Amino acid sequence: MRMYEIIEKKRDKKELSKAEIDYFITKYSQDEIPDYQVSALLMAIYLNGLTREELFHLTYAMAHSSKMLDLSEIKVPGKYIVDKHSTGGVGDKVTLIVLPIVAALGVGVCKMSGKGLGFTGGTADKLESIEGYQISIPIEKAIRQVQDIGLCLISQSNELAIADKKLYALRDLTATVESIPLIASSIMSKKLASGVDKILLDVTVGSGAFMKDLESAKKLAKTMVAIGKDAHVETKAVITSMAEPLGRNVGNALEVKEAISFLLADENTLMSDEMADIREVVFTIAAQMISMSGICEDIEQNKKDIARVILSGEAYGKLIELIQAQGGKTESVYVDWLGKNVEFPVLKEQVTFMKEIHAQSTGYIVSIDSKRIGEALVCLGGGRKKKDDVIDYAVGFEFNKKVGDKVKEGDVVLRVLYNDKQYFEDAFSYIEDAIYIEAIEARVAKSLKAKPHVLDMIGEIDL
Ligand code: URA
Repeated sequence: MRMYEIIEKKRDKKELSKAEIDYFITKYSQDEIPDYQVSALLMAIYLNGLTREELFHLTYAMAHSSKMLDLSEIKVPGKYIVDKHSTGGVGDKVTLIVLPIVAALGVGVCKMSGKGLGFTGGTADKLESIEGYQISIPIEKAIRQVQDIGLCLISQSNELAIADKKLYALRDLTATVESIPLIASSIMSKKLASGVDKILLDVTVGSGAFMKDLESAKKLAKTMVAIGKDAHVETKAVITSMAEPLGRNVGNALEVKEAISFLLADENTLMSDEMADIREVVFTIAAQMISMSGICEDIEQNKKDIARVILSGEAYGKLIELIQAQGGKTESVYVDWLGKNVEFPVLKEQVTFMKEIHAQSTGYIVSIDSKRIGEALVCLGGGRKKKDDVIDYAVGFEFNKKVGDKVKEGDVVLRVLYNDKQYFEDAFSYIEDAIYIEAIEARVAKSLKAKPHVLDMIGEIDL
């Protein structure tokens, strides 16, 4: 079998056999096929797509490209081990918040996350903004950790889902990220390799997501739910909006801090408008995961339990257990609104400069283009332009205003934290075009603010 013929076949819109797909994945994982040939095949898949059979064979081969985790011996209160994965976004710190919450309620979680892809951030990078956090740990340790503390958060490695690790990095450089079959196989291969019983997907839609409209997001969601069905792993998908960045912070260390603020919130803060978008997405996803784990099917009851473990500090305690278990450094910090000291992760958050970006006119914020904000973060050094770029974890944006908020000319809309003046200049052109202010009626602004963030739910039933 020759890689040339496989590329030619896909280029000519013909169906690849299981043997051809297995050959390509096995040989590429063993470094026996060069990146340039794989890039050509990725582009042919991007342009011509895959059939349901091809997609299943690709996902299955990618999942089996290195070891598969066996979590069957793990005993936690939840009957089923459940995983969650987002298709990517800007300011998306949902995993950092949801996982400790559900683990505190007895759901076992073993999650494999990726690094930033294109203009979107990656949970692996966010965790690496914590001093000492080890995202790649031996398989045996990951399994032991799920048994001991109920969760682990790791990334693809040579031991696990190596094909995805290599393809993920290559797609990022070859303009082949925004492809339904490539996203679906990337995500589902990681999930299947991690040996979980059930999967909940967060399929994002909008300018800050790879799927720009609801129809494509539903198609991606259904494609992944179908792979789960073919692999006999119950899979559901929640479709959430990424029209503007999620929450108030974008940037690796800044997002960890925002996740911490959410988990340490008191009742007023948790229920505040400021936290509304994150709260809606987090409560929906966490409540579904608890239901899928077999602990409790009543979603409203689950939401009450979620609020309880946040307000009691149990969920935050789980986050700290996770960080410490994977080598992350923590230190004791006095939190004034709690009136006590708590363990806090030590973050790589050193920045030299801060610039305020002001409103150029009076009116309401009508839109914030999250893709442009994600691209601006890459310019600042908070994401990668090349495969091996070293990230500046500290840089990013703090939003003072969001869509639907009233602004007067000169008000601070956001703050930019950065370490390199030239990088700021590069980022500025993206930032200034990203925010759109218009003098609309107050009632229109109110309806913009009230737009839901959870847009739909796809289960096997819909296939
Ligand atoms: N997340 C992944 O893990 N893979 C993709 O291709 C996109 C988002």
